[in-house]
Amino acid sequence: LRVGGLVRHHRLLVPGAAAACLLLAIPASAADATPGAPGVGDSYYPSYGNGGYDVSHYDLRLKYQPTTDRLEGTTTVLATATQDLSRFNLDFALDVSEVLVGGKKAAFTATGDHELEITPAAPLDKGRPFTVVVRYHGTPSKVEASGFTAWLRTPDGAVAAGEPESAWWWYPSNDHPLDKATYDVSVAVPDGTQAISNGTLQSTSSKLGWTRYNWRSAKPQATYLTTLAVGKFDITKDTTASGLPVINAYSKDLGDNAGAARASVERSAEIVDWESTVFGPYPFEALGGYVPNVPTGFALETQTRPFYSPRQFSRGANASVVVHELAHQWFGDSVSLKDWRDIWINEGFASYAQWLWSEKEGEGTAQELADYTYASYPADDPFWTVKPADPGAENQFHGAVYDRGALALQALRNKVGDKDFFAIIKGWTAKNRYGNASVRDFITFAEKVSGKPLDELFETWLYTPAKPAASAAKAAAV
Ligand code: ARG
Ligand code: ZN
Repeated sequence: LRVGGLVRHHRLLVPGAAAACLLLAIPASAADATPGAPGVGDSYYPSYGNGGYDVSHYDLRLKYQPTTDRLEGTTTVLATATQDLSRFNLDFALDVSEVLVGGKKAAFTATGDHELEITPAAPLDKGRPFTVVVRYHGTPSKVEASGFTAWLRTPDGAVAAGEPESAWWWYPSNDHPLDKATYDVSVAVPDGTQAISNGTLQSTSSKLGWTRYNWRSAKPQATYLTTLAVGKFDITKDTTASGLPVINAYSKDLGDNAGAARASVERSAEIVDWESTVFGPYPFEALGGYVPNVPTGFALETQTRPFYSPRQFSRGANASVVVHELAHQWFGDSVSLKDWRDIWINEGFASYAQWLWSEKEGEGTAQELADYTYASYPADDPFWTVKPADPGAENQFHGAVYDRGALALQALRNKVGDKDFFAIIKGWTAKNRYGNASVRDFITFAEKVSGKPLDELFETWLYTPAKPAASAAKAAAV
């Protein structure tokens, strides 16, 4: 009572006092400032991301020489301290030559294979914006962190693409989807070579034998969705019906896959237009795709401009993979996971988008594909032991996250009916636009929109390590 009385009295006498206090710059003394955590607390990847600050913008100014794989440059990070901060980490694996915090030289040391620990000359006050400049260089394909490199060499350049790891080998960051930021990526490459990144190409300029490409991605973007490709590309430029710039890039060295790659990726605008009618407004300012001459086989939903390995097109055109990666622009890129355990909110939805596309194209309805998928794995197949809503780090990209993940959405659609199902989908992308969400958040949201209890359905389809009874994914009581 006494304390409550005091607080009430204080508020009555000094309206707005609480707000005023927040604005006062109370310097953090060395005594109360503490180190930011070296990880953001992810359940699968405890050392990924960092605590103590929040990044708003990354500015990368790089130079890359394909013949030697030498990368050098400077990244400027704009951040705000979320605690009185005595020191903090960035996730990074290349060699650092200098760090400035707020324009002053800061001490730094590499701790672990992807941690750069930075101690500013003076502690940083909670709530205060600060700037970190990191100068660095390296040969990224030769740098192993966690036992590998996500920097892929090509005959004429290189590509940074990987999930969840890809930033460590080319820029220092708070490497977790919880801390999204905007980006300017400026890369100088030898004349005749191109540099591709996210968003829009603001300008190019050439001097002294080097051409600089200035890319901007203006909406919040997770670190692993920031990409760079250097090589010899054919670049196509167009605009969508609604006026969005479309930029696609194809390695000049795609061999027999060149035609199929173009026949697929050139449909990006058409696919985004269709997906917008199903998922809601496209969240970003540009779109496209790029196909570098990498030897790998995967694809990745790098923001605004997915990455496609040429092998995706080795059996002919593959619009389905384009549908998948562009669906991720809503599911994964705009609405990002909170914890890597929540990967189903990315992959389940991007996979279900492929079934919806098939339905639209008259190549089998989602229900037919669900029945086919369900029947393809016998009850004793290990496929059913992976729980899509918590697959474990080692199974993060297991087929079950994708296929059983899509089955869960078909089960939901059957349970709530098409009207509510598509209202859930559109409502979800609107509610969480540019944010983060968990599997639990989705279940709660679907229950709210449909007015139906859905715990049991999701328990069966996402959380049980066994094959569910077939009837659950069939048209059930609506
Ligand atoms: N999110 C990507 C996709 O399904 C998966 C990337 C898997 N990563 C990898 N290096 N194989 O489109
Ligand atoms: Zn995917």
